[in-house]
Amino acid sequence: MLKDKIVELNPERVLDIGCRDGSFTAELSQYCGEIIAIDINPDAVERALKDNSKSNIEYMVGDGRSVEFDDAGFDLVYEKDALHHIKEWQQAVDEMLRLSSNYVLIEEPLNDPRSEAKRNAIMAQEFFLEVQREAGYSHFKYISLETLKGYLKHKGLNFEIEIEKCDEPETYEHHFDQFEEFAFKTGRGDYWMKRLDDFLDEMKGRPICQSDTLFIEVRKLK
Ligand SMILES: C[S@@+](CC[C@H](N)C(=O)[O-])C[C@H]1O[C@@H](n2cnc3c(N)ncnc32)[C@H](O)[C@@H]1O
Repeated sequence: MLKDKIVELNPERVLDIGCRDGSFTAELSQYCGEIIAIDINPDAVERALKDNSKSNIEYMVGDGRSVEFDDAGFDLVYEKDALHHIKEWQQAVDEMLRLSSNYVLIEEPLNDPRSEAKRNAIMAQEFFLEVQREAGYSHFKYISLETLKGYLKHKGLNFEIEIEKCDEPETYEHHFDQFEEFAFKTGRGDYWMKRLDDFLDEMKGRPICQSDTLFIEVRKLK
């Protein structure tokens, strides 16, 4: 959804909030004039510069809650999967709205407890968040559709919403593939790995699936 929209718009000057290693930014670069891509994590920006450098992308360390660019300096500002890593996500949304002269695009994973596999995915995410929190990594629960909608409505904005439902099965192995890294960052890796074993035992034979995707397109000009 986000990528299709950017391909369709072929924007001139774009800002990417929370680009991580730049893999998605690089994928979009051929459809944009120039992209400034920021991430709060200097290691991520270093990786982006090393692995996903393109002549029309400028990577820089920056905080989506307070970005040092002028008002309306971009025709399109987007974020993909970064808002739920920002506790004060409303500040980041406000900055996106300030920085764009027209389009603000948001793509976030969404939780929906409509099936057993979905409910198991929510439990798995909650468990993963516990270890990430202790490891000092900022990652919060997915922002609900109602919360995001409510915030944009309250600001009197024109916006459209699309939801891509996904019930594709996932494996617990895949879901927890980075767990060990976080477990050992907490300084009590053995404790967390034991908790993971217990969790996996409890979930044995129980289905889990991928998240849905929420896409929001805000137009400042209509
Ligand atoms: C799940 S990654 C998203 C990566 C990328 N957008 C993609 O879809 O491939 C979330 C990123 O948001 C970054 N992030 C967290 N808080 C941020 C903030 N306040 N400002 C900018 N980036 C932030 C994290 O460092 C992380 O790299």
